[in-house]
Amino acid sequence: MKISRVLVIGGAGYVGSHFSFFAGNNGLKVTIMDNLSKGHRSALRCSEFIEADLLNYDNFLKHLSDNKYDAIFHFAASCLVGESVQDPAQYYKNNILAAFNMLEAMRLTGHDKVIFSSTCAVYGYPQRLPLDENHPKNPISPYGRTKLAIEWMLEDYNVAYGIRSAQLRYFNAAGCEPDFGLGEDHKPETHLIPNVVRFALKLSDELTIFGDDYPTRDGTCVRDYIHVMDLADAHLKACSKLDEVPMIRYNLGTGRGYTNLEVVDSVRRISGVDIKPKYGPRRPGDPAELVADAALAHENLDWKPTRSDLDSIVKEVIKWFSLCPQGYPN
Ligand SMILES: NC(=O)c1ccc[n+]([C@@H]2O[C@H](COP(=O)([O-])OP(=O)(O)OC[C@H]3O[C@@H](n4cnc5c(N)ncnc54)[C@H](O)[C@@H]3O)[C@@H](O)[C@H]2O)c1
Repeated sequence: MKISRVLVIGGAGYVGSHFSFFAGNNGLKVTIMDNLSKGHRSALRCSEFIEADLLNYDNFLKHLSDNKYDAIFHFAASCLVGESVQDPAQYYKNNILAAFNMLEAMRLTGHDKVIFSSTCAVYGYPQRLPLDENHPKNPISPYGRTKLAIEWMLEDYNVAYGIRSAQLRYFNAAGCEPDFGLGEDHKPETHLIPNVVRFALKLSDELTIFGDDYPTRDGTCVRDYIHVMDLADAHLKACSKLDEVPMIRYNLGTGRGYTNLEVVDSVRRISGVDIKPKYGPRRPGDPAELVADAALAHENLDWKPTRSDLDSIVKEVIKWFSLCPQGYPN
C-alpha cells in the first residue's frame, strides 16, 4: 500500500525532525504531534503541527478518531540513561504509559501500523560483538527497560489485535542537515559528537571523556554512529515492509565503531583546533563497545547507510554549530 498521510509523534525532536523533513521530501503529508518538552518549534518540518502530550489519552483518542493516518511514527520518549536511573518514574510514565495510550487509541480507531524508535540499550552489556538482534536482552537502565517493555507490548498487540509494528533499534544517532536548518540540540547534551564540536568552537568550557581504561584500542569507549538521514530512510523502508510482514525488529547501525578519541581526532583534524579533553571516571552502565550487526536491515529492507562516514558527520555538526551556536532559537 502506498502511504500518503502520516503522524509523527515527537517530530520536533532531533531524530523526528529529520525524519519529518525526509518524509515530506518523499511526498508524504506529515502531521507532527509534540508537547515541545524537548523539541523545538523551529525544527518542525510538516504540513500540520499539533502541540499535545501523548500522556493526554482522551485528547489523543479524539484526534485519531477524527483523522485517519496510513502509519504512525513514534519518536517521543524520555531518553537520558543517567536521568532514568535518578528518576525512573518519569521514564515508566512518559515511555511506557504514553506508548500504551498510543496503542490503545490505535486499537480503538483502526490504526494498524506503527514504527517505533527502540535502542541498542535493550541489549545491556554485550556478550558478543557485533550485536545482532538475537543477542540476549538484559537492559541495565530504566531507559533501556522501558524500551524493551514497549517492544513486548508491540508484540502482544500484534498477536492479539493485529497492530503491525517496526521496532528499530538505533545505535548512536548522529549528523544533521545544517543546510536545511536542522541540527542536534538536546538540553542537556549527552552525546559525544556535538559536545566535542561545541568544545572545539569554544561554545563550552569543558570536555570530559568518561573512562580511558576500557579494553579497547585506545582505552576509550567504542560506539557505532548512524546518520539521522540514514535512520529516516530506514524508517520509510520499514514502514513499507509492514505490508509483507506483521512485525519486524532490526538494528540500525553501520557495523563500524569509533572510539571516543577517534571522534575527538576527527573534530581536531576538521576544525583545525587542538582539542585537549579531560578524563573522568567511567560512567556506570557504559559498555566498552557497542557496535551493530545490521545485516537484517541491510538485507530485508534493502537499506544501506550512505551518510554515516564519521568525518562527513563531523563537518555537518561543525557547520550547524557555526550557523547556530546556541542551537535552535527557541
Ligand atoms: N538520539 C539517539 O542517539 C537515539 C538512540 C537510540 C534511540 N533513540 C530514540 O529515538 C527517539 C528520538 O530521540 P531524539 O534524540 O530525537 O530525542 P528528542 O528528545 O530530541 O526528541 C523526542 C521528542 O519527543 C517529544 N516528546 C517527549 N515526550 C512526549 C510526550 N509525552 N508527548 C509528546 N511529545 C513528547 C519531545 O518534546 C521531543 O521533541 C527516542 O525515542 C529515543 O529513545 C535515540
